[in-house]
Amino acid sequence: MIEELAEHEAAAVAAIDRADSLDALASAKTEALGKNAPLTSAQRNLGSLPPEKRKDAGKALNEVRRRVEARLEAKTADLAESERAARLVAERLDLTEVPVEVEVGHAHVVTQAWEELEDVFVGMGFRVAEGPEVETDWHNFDALNIPPRHPARDAFDTIYVNHGEPGSTLLRTHTSPVQIRAMLDQEPPIYVVAPGRVFRRDTADATHMPVFHQIEGLVVDRGISLADLAGTIEAFTESYFGPGFTSRLRPNYFPFTEPSAEFDIQLPDGSWLELGGSGMVHPNVLRAGGIDPEEWTGFAFGFGIDRLAAMKFRIDDLRDMFTEDLRFLSQF
Ligand code: PHE
Repeated sequence: MIEELAEHEAAAVAAIDRADSLDALASAKTEALGKNAPLTSAQRNLGSLPPEKRKDAGKALNEVRRRVEARLEAKTADLAESERAARLVAERLDLTEVPVEVEVGHAHVVTQAWEELEDVFVGMGFRVAEGPEVETDWHNFDALNIPPRHPARDAFDTIYVNHGEPGSTLLRTHTSPVQIRAMLDQEPPIYVVAPGRVFRRDTADATHMPVFHQIEGLVVDRGISLADLAGTIEAFTESYFGPGFTSRLRPNYFPFTEPSAEFDIQLPDGSWLELGGSGMVHPNVLRAGGIDPEEWTGFAFGFGIDRLAAMKFRIDDLRDMFTEDLRFLSQF
C-alpha cells in the first residue's frame, strides 16, 4: 500500500508539472485528486484494510494528498502569473508605431491678415483695443452722431438682438463703437486700433458677407490734423503692402467724422483699391466719449480685413474664404 501511494504521488506530481496552462492544470487536478484518481480509490479502500494497518495507511495517504495539493497550488500561482505576463505582452500597445508625421494646420487667411495688421499698427505706436460684438444701439449709432431715424442708419442693414427695450441691442455693424468705448475707458492721448467681427443683414456674394471683419483706428491728442491722418494712412500702406504702394484720400461723408474721406491704395500696376473710410473725429463723438473737443482733436479710420486678405492672396470670391474646404484654405 505505501509503495503504491508513492507511485500515485509521483504520477500526480508528474501530471501537475507537465501542465503548461491553467486549463491543462485543471485536467491534471482531476487526474490526481478526482473521483477516479488512484489516490481517491486508495482512500475508499482504507475501510477494507485491517484496523492495525488502517491508521498508518490513512496518515500516509493524508500526507500524500497534502503534498499533491500544495504542488497544485504552487503550480496554479505560477501559471496564473505567467499567463498574466503573456497577456500584458500581447495587449501592449506599441506607441512607437503611431505615425509621427501629423498634419499641422495654420492660421486662416483672415487671421493672418488680422495679426499682420495688428503688428504693423503696434509697430507705429498703437495699442490694440476690443469691444463686444453684441453692442448697444447707443454705442453703435447715437454716440457716433447717428441719432434715431437718421438716414445714415439705413446704410447699415442692422441685425437687432431680442434683448432689453426693442431696438436697444444689436450685433455691431462696424468697429466704430470701439472708438466710444476707448474714449470712455481712458484719458487722451489715445492711439488705438480695434480689429473685430461685424455683422450686417446682407446676402453673401463675391464681395459681401453678412459676417465680416474690420479694423478701426482712433487717435485723439492735442493738435491732431488731417495731415496726421493722411500721413498715418500713407505710413501704414507702405508698411503693410510694401514699397511702391501709395494711398490717397477722397472726400466722402460719415456722420461720425468731419471732414470725412474715403481712402484708396494704389497698387504698383497703377490701379486703385478702395479700402475704407476715415476722417477727423466729429466734436459730437468726442463729447459722447467724455472728451472736450476744444482741447483735443482726433482722427479715425476703418476698413475691411477680409477684402484686404482677398486682395493680398488673390481670392476672387469672399465666400471661398469661409468654406471649410481645406483643399482651398491650405493654399494660403
Ligand atoms: N465705420 C465706417 C464703416 O463701417 C468706416 C469708418 C470708420 C469711417 C472710421 C470713418 C471713420 O463704413
